[in-house]
Formats: sequence, structure tokens, C-alpha cells
Amino acid sequence: MHLYSSLALPLLLSAPNAHAWGVVGHATIATIANHYLTEAGKTYVSSKLGAGVTMASVASWADNYRYTTVGRFSAPYHFIDAEDTPPSSCSVNLARDCGPTGCVVSAITNYTQRVQDSHLSVENTKEAMEFLIHFIGDITQPLHDEAEAVGGNDISVTWDGTPTNLHACWDTQMVEKAAGGSNSTATLTAFSNKLIAMIDTGSYSSQKAGWISCDNVATASQCALSWAQDANALNCQYVLKANETGMELDGSYYTGALPYIDLQIAKGGYRLGAWINALAAAA
Ligand SMILES: *[C@@H]1O[C@H](CO)[C@@H](O)[C@H](O)[C@H]1NC(C)=O
Ligand SMILES: *[C@@H]1O[C@H](CO)[C@@H](O)[C@H](O)[C@H]1NC(C)=O
Ligand SMILES: *[C@@H]1O[C@H](CO)[C@@H](O)[C@H](O)[C@H]1NC(C)=O
Repeated sequence: MHLYSSLALPLLLSAPNAHAWGVVGHATIATIANHYLTEAGKTYVSSKLGAGVTMASVASWADNYRYTTVGRFSAPYHFIDAEDTPPSSCSVNLARDCGPTGCVVSAITNYTQRVQDSHLSVENTKEAMEFLIHFIGDITQPLHDEAEAVGGNDISVTWDGTPTNLHACWDTQMVEKAAGGSNSTATLTAFSNKLIAMIDTGSYSSQKAGWISCDNVATASQCALSWAQDANALNCQYVLKANETGMELDGSYYTGALPYIDLQIAKGGYRLGAWINALAAAA
């Protein structure tokens, strides 16, 4: 979704958390990832973030940073504008869709390299880790891999009677409903435990190996592109399948979306954990 090409910018500046998996989505992804860290992975995270700093606590940092003057360059890194034609045809093509200012695929590639770069300062290494924790979350949100209607930002809908847009509902309202609340330790624990159980012994146990089939940190661009393609396909399967304009989403649309919300957040968390374990193993 293009943010800076739109008149909505001043509004966005006053609502910095409105346009990415919201805080609950990112913190849940980080909490799930943390659960799957190897001992080496845990050591790796604390060596980058600092002792005692949890991944959940920094998972939304990049959403605040993008709205600062110094962080403004990173705004395009939160998404890739797939110029496909959903719902009839979905696709992501790096040459076509990752613009000259970068995208979530190039950002994951860049920060995977930077977090391993021993010449960087402690501060820049920490920042690279924080970006990775955030972007490996963003890339699993289907509308972060879509140019149509500015990633759904231009599709006006209502949520429980309140006017909003499709993108915001996928980032925040539907996730908070799925999680059972807004950001708190209790909500994150309950939601992440539910998804961890599905990964370990539930309906995701047979799928999870596929989620991390690309796990080579030396081929980050290829892996991140496959993750973008995987999430983008859901725009044709469900997210943009109906004409959502004017729809009340807190009803049958939400009920149909819930399996995809659970799936994408579980997947993002499991992948992020595996990616960090792979970084630790390569160190
Ligand atoms: C969300 O909640 C977690 C757990 O309480 C906390 O670590 C994190 O800082 C919170 N995030 C924000 C942006 O408030
Ligand atoms: C990589 O990250 C650094 C630090 O944020 C940034 O200055 C640089 O432009 C990025 N490069 C690419 C290709 O995204
Ligand atoms: C979608 O629905 C809206 C509101 O009902 C209508 O104005 C619009 O023409 C529809 N768009 C398409 C492509 O069918």
C-alpha cells in the first residue's frame, strides 16, 4: 500500500498504529516466535536486543519509527505493492512490485544481512533485529502484499457500525476480536497459547514444516518472496473475494476471516522463531 502518495497522510501521522498488523498481532507473533527459540536463538536475541528485552516489547517499534522524520525512509518496507488483479488472479513479482524505495521483501533481506554484520554498531544491530521481528510479521498480513485499493485502505467498511477500512480491520479490529482483547500480557498469553497448541498438536501440526520450508538466511530474498506470495494468495481465496465496499465486517465476514487470521499469525510467529534460530546457527 502506498502511504505517501495519498492525501490521507496527515491522518496517518496522527494514527501511527493504524496501518500494520496492530500491536496485538505483532506482539502475538513475537510471543509465539519466542516460544520456539532454541537456547542459541534465545542467546542470539538477547545479544541483539539487550538482556531482558522481550521480542513482544519491541515488536511494534517499527510502526512508530516510520512516522518520525529519521524513520520515514522505512515506510515502504512494511509492504509490497503486488500489482495483480484480485480476486481473479493473485501474484507477487519482485521486479514488478518492489519499487525503487524498497519493499518488505528487500527489507527482510537487508536486515537479515545487517543483523549478521559484525561491523555495525550495537544500536544499528538492535534496530536490524527490531525491523526483522516486525517485517516477518507484516509480510504474513495478506493486505501488506497487495496494491489493490492501496492494500484495502481505500475500501470503506464498517466495524460494529463504526466507519473504517478493510486494511485496518485486518490489522487491528479482527485481530483483537480473535485474541479476545487489546494488548495486555493476559491477552497475548491466551492467544499465543491457543495458536501454539494448534501448531504443536492441532490442525497446523501437519502444515508447519511447509511454513519454514525456506529457512536459509543466505537466501533471504527468495524466502521472503515466497512468504509474500503465500499471503498474497489469500487475497484471492478470501480477503478480497467479495465486494467488501460498504460491508459490515463484524459478522459473517469476520467469521470467515478468523481461520485465516489465526493461520497467518501462527505462521508468522513460527517462521520468525525459525528464522532467528537459523541466524543463531549461522553465527
Ligand atoms: C504489548 O503488550 C506486551 C505485553 O504486556 C508489552 O511487552 C508490549 O510493550 C506492548 N506493546 C505496546 C506497543 O504497548
Ligand atoms: C538497509 O538498511 C539501512 C539501515 O536502515 C538503510 O540505510 C538502507 O537504505 C537499507 N538498504 C536497503 C537496500 O533497503
Ligand atoms: C461494490 O459495492 C458497492 C456498494 O454496494 C458498489 O457501489 C460498487 O459498484 C461495487 N463494485 C463492484 C466492482 O461491483
